[in-house]
Amino acid sequence: MKALLLAGGLGTRLRPLTENMAKPMALVGNRPWLEHLVTHLKRQGIHDFVIAVKHYPEMIQQYFGDGQAWGVSIEYAVEKTLLGTAGAIKNAERLLGDRFLVVNADIIHEASLIPLLEFHMQHKGAVTIGLTEVEDPSQYGVVEQTWSGEIVRFVEKPDKSQAPSRLINAGIYVMDKEVLKWIPQGREVSIERETFPLLIEQGVGVYGKTIDGYWMDMGTKTRYRQVHWDLLDRTLSLPFAQKEQNKGIWIGEETVVGQGVLFVPPVLIGDRVRIGERSVIGPYAVIGDDCELGKNVRCQETIMWHGCKVHDAAQLKNCIFGYGLELGASHILHEAVMNRMAGGSQA
Ligand code: GDD
Ligand code: MG
Repeated sequence: MKALLLAGGLGTRLRPLTENMAKPMALVGNRPWLEHLVTHLKRQGIHDFVIAVKHYPEMIQQYFGDGQAWGVSIEYAVEKTLLGTAGAIKNAERLLGDRFLVVNADIIHEASLIPLLEFHMQHKGAVTIGLTEVEDPSQYGVVEQTWSGEIVRFVEKPDKSQAPSRLINAGIYVMDKEVLKWIPQGREVSIERETFPLLIEQGVGVYGKTIDGYWMDMGTKTRYRQVHWDLLDRTLSLPFAQKEQNKGIWIGEETVVGQGVLFVPPVLIGDRVRIGERSVIGPYAVIGDDCELGKNVRCQETIMWHGCKVHDAAQLKNCIFGYGLELGASHILHEAVMNRMAGGSQA
């Protein structure tokens, strides 16, 4: 069975991090989330992928190519105009089989697919939506179900007081191809606002099944940070490429650590990182590959992508740095989210 990964959203709520990239390529624990997603699905027996891309498609295509390096096959459905979540599925129609999986590529999850597939086959609906429970459903698609699991109402982002339940669309669907005939071609169509309500009205069988395991939509800065703290606490147990040197301290290859450096766990340090004398790193720090941190630097609750440079005695707390940023000596930053334009600065 193929998996269609919806990777074409703008990622506005994660700006400026996603200023010049597709949101699912944002790093999670030093690797693009999309790569974790492909390997997570591969571990569950999915070997064929279609990635629906719109913004910065070349970035995703160049990174993954045909998927061979990951032992999978990847095809691309590129959108020329904005098509929305259902339009993106329709646009990929010729690449899909009779039954397929659809996954919002920005949800960080470790759900098992087998129970979802089994449920879909037993209930014989046209769509089975993976569901999860959240405290505040108002930022998601909320469902109302019958005792058998059939969804009788789907409301996208209702007011908190209007939400029919706390069970929300987790952004993972098993779908039969017949659904595609309900999606008009060549215009923007939202699966959440238009297609699901229509399918429910038509009675084609829309079911919901609660998924297991970790789940988080990484689409806001607060949740993006939370994903990392959960990763370091191992509530989210994605594999790290780096080795655990001491409890809660993962350090990559060829990383050079100066004298008197203190790691306060949990921390994840990438490959080829250099850290100057007496710096204090952590708790909760994720440092990308090839970063250079000077002497007496303090860095906690911070996520730094590859290739950043932090000069002596700078202090960072609760920051997120995109690729290749530089911070001057003795600068103090709290809660800063920073990035730079692709290709460097422009005069
Ligand atoms: N190819 C393509 N084209 N992908 C798209 C498009 C598009 O036009 N629009 C959005 N996407 C992708 C995004 O990249 C993301 O992976 C996914 O579709 C969902 O879009 P978001 O913009 O992140 O939606 P959301 O987070 O506000 O809400 C969605 O996800 C929630 C779960 O995280 C909805 O599906 C909710 O119902 C759901 O609860
Ligand atoms: Mg989202």
